[in-house]
Amino acid sequence: MKYLFAIGVLLAGSVTARAQQPRQPSAQQRAAAAQMGPTPGQAPDTLAETPNPFADDVKAMGEGRRLFNWYNCAGCHGDHAGGGMGPSLRDSTWRYGGTDARIYRSIAEGRTKGMPAWGSKLPPDQIWKLVAYIRSLRTAKEPDKPTP
Ligand code: HEC
Repeated sequence: MKYLFAIGVLLAGSVTARAQQPRQPSAQQRAAAAQMGPTPGQAPDTLAETPNPFADDVKAMGEGRRLFNWYNCAGCHGDHAGGGMGPSLRDSTWRYGGTDARIYRSIAEGRTKGMPAWGSKLPPDQIWKLVAYIRSLRTAKEPDKPTP
């Protein structure tokens, strides 16, 4: 009798568990998933207008330079970001866009052809400092410029 009761509880449990599962993701969940996807331009880009809190901050550019070596971005993008296994970040062409927000997303979310996502490893202020460094390349403010 006790045994049957236990089975009854188990069955009831699994039925309620299933009943609580939504059959389809809600529109809101689908939108959130689309925004996290690595392909730009499909979903509304909520970061599109977000400016870098460290824009024009020379000290942050220097810290970004240090982080660039520290996290071995240089290992794939080359010293001074001139390109290697990963694309050059100091030329004038961008695969995924060269605005603050686009560069931030490339770093935070990763990109499909071999760019790892750093969003779970680095705090946002470090990512923004990397963006500040990358945007300083080829400008007068670039820290630790390559020797010509
Ligand atoms: C394992 C190698 C590797 C490492 C490490 C790496 N990257 Fe990348 N990165 C790539 C590749 C490959 C791409 C091109 C991806 C693509 O085309 O889909 C890329 C793309 C990018 C882009 C987009 C470039 C564009 O043209 O739009 C940025 C910005 C970037 N990486 C920054 C960084 C930063 C900053 C770091 C360090 C925190 C870093 N990467 C570390 C390989 C790497």
